[in-house]
Amino acid sequence: MCGIVGYIGKEDASEIIISGLQRLEYRGYDSAGIAIVSNGVIERRRSEGKLINLSGSLHVDPIIGHTGIGHTRWATHGRPTEFNAHPHVDNTSSIAVVHNGIIENYMSLKEDLKADGYKFVSQTDTEVLAHLMADEMSKDGDMAAAMRGALKRVEGAYAIGVVHKDRPDVLLAGRKDSPLIIGLGDGENFIASDVPAILPYTRSIIYLDDEEIAVLTKDNVEIFNLDGDRIEKPVEHIEWNPVLAEKSGYDHFMLKEIFEQPQVIRNTIGGRTDEENAQIYLEEIGLTDGEIKNIETIYIVACGTAYYSGCVGKYLLEKLARVHVDVDLASEFRYREPMVNERTLVIVISQSGETADTLAALREAKKRGAKVIGIVNVKGSSIAREVDGALYIHAGPEIGVASTKAYMAMLIALMLLSIQFGRIRELIEAPEARRLIRKLKGLPSKIEEILDNIEAIKDIADRYSEFRDFLYLGRGVNFPTAMEGALKLKEISYIHAEAYAAGEMKHGPIALIDRRMPVVAIATRSATYEKIISNIQEVIAREGMVIAVATTGDVNITSYSKDVMYVPDTDELLSPMIVVVPLQLLAYYVAVNRGSDVDQPRNLAKSVTVE
Ligand code: F6R
Repeated sequence: MCGIVGYIGKEDASEIIISGLQRLEYRGYDSAGIAIVSNGVIERRRSEGKLINLSGSLHVDPIIGHTGIGHTRWATHGRPTEFNAHPHVDNTSSIAVVHNGIIENYMSLKEDLKADGYKFVSQTDTEVLAHLMADEMSKDGDMAAAMRGALKRVEGAYAIGVVHKDRPDVLLAGRKDSPLIIGLGDGENFIASDVPAILPYTRSIIYLDDEEIAVLTKDNVEIFNLDGDRIEKPVEHIEWNPVLAEKSGYDHFMLKEIFEQPQVIRNTIGGRTDEENAQIYLEEIGLTDGEIKNIETIYIVACGTAYYSGCVGKYLLEKLARVHVDVDLASEFRYREPMVNERTLVIVISQSGETADTLAALREAKKRGAKVIGIVNVKGSSIAREVDGALYIHAGPEIGVASTKAYMAMLIALMLLSIQFGRIRELIEAPEARRLIRKLKGLPSKIEEILDNIEAIKDIADRYSEFRDFLYLGRGVNFPTAMEGALKLKEISYIHAEAYAAGEMKHGPIALIDRRMPVVAIATRSATYEKIISNIQEVIAREGMVIAVATTGDVNITSYSKDVMYVPDTDELLSPMIVVVPLQLLAYYVAVNRGSDVDQPRNLAKSVTVE
């Protein structure tokens, strides 16, 4: 959700913090602020709206200092006004705090602090942290001890950064249930909510765990638990190339990430396949052959786009590994007392690895005795660290709020898993596994074919940008693709779009069909091709306009649909990886035509770390 960056070193802190916040703006963007320790005072600047408002004001009137914290906000408590923007300060403006998460007991803490004379000026939960720090510091003046004391008094989730006007040599950080990393530099150190913020400066990272605090100076980092005991933490090396977190000439991160998909597929497959021996190697998930054979039920649990990848995964796993699969929204799974036992495998899927509902569902599943594996993008994220085995998708940093390349990589990971399970459960013969592996490896060039010919999709987008409602139809393994296509359109263009299994249309949604509602119908070659053609005819009979996604060479489709987006042929099970690409591009170009802020659509945040 919110983005945090902190710096301590020799350089201009505000420049480094603002550039880090720019790379984190996908996390939240309704207001922003910065606090720098400058000549014995906290210089604070905050602005409503996008970060550019803040950076513009700093450009005109810079703040000089080498220690500071900054924040981009996604409002939870209090409207996105300048008063509610972080950093928040105590009543003497000695201490400044940035916070991501929710302090659940802030109301009672606020009452107590008010009774002790502390004055509140914002509607946020975060402000209590600044006053708590001040309260604790009044006891013995030690900053780290004050932070431990303050954090022991709060309930809820937090990632925080703290600076003090008289201590330009110290930057404090702490976390519980909200992500925070420490970046290690040479004569400088950093804190951030996410890796891309500090990638240009360092790739040496310490992942802070729950209820740990970090004391940073420019030359040193020490980690403690809330009792003050020192903790030794490993330093991890991030492989992501900083260029991956730049737009590199594309108009938007989303477009760049759509175009990265062929390479992402190659990275996800990596060295995990052995075509000759018809094997898939996924040791990292930590399941023995015996355990895989013994699985009775699989639950796939995720949110949003990751959930739709799970819906495709159900088809793949049931078809190739003949195991019963339920797909659940994490926000539902965690509260519905799922029937989980030691023969249940739970697969959680998450790009960020920080989604609060998915994390809670994973904890619930573990509590109930299930083995839990994760399909995750961000290395060292909370979900990656808590699962029994993490299957990294290697999609690189995904900055566009609307997920594209991570979705693709999730599908590839699910396919690898399905082939592996099918082989181990002795349901797929070697020649079939070899064929699937070959087809999988052939996907990047097929997607490149689509990306080399986007003019037809752009042209369709130009003609359909003004409609207010869209219906998406798909069947079988491409029903989830229809749902993902509709989600992409609605989240970045704000057009109402819904998806149905095509065979379900006549049970209700057909009432909506008229000339004002374009219908995107996935009609690629498949076992149910004839059926979807019938569904398309039902639409046409009611004067609906059909935009079909069809297989290259299918000339007949033009007699049923007004417009066609062609995609190369592939195995039906792999078609979701191909079909989603024109749907991503359609959503993208419609949103651009409508003037939406594609990378940072309204009300959304990339990493949903609150429930
Ligand atoms: C949609 C989108 C969201 C995320 C969802 C889960 O484009 O990006 O629906 O898929 O918030 O996020 P992760 O995968 O980080 O758990």
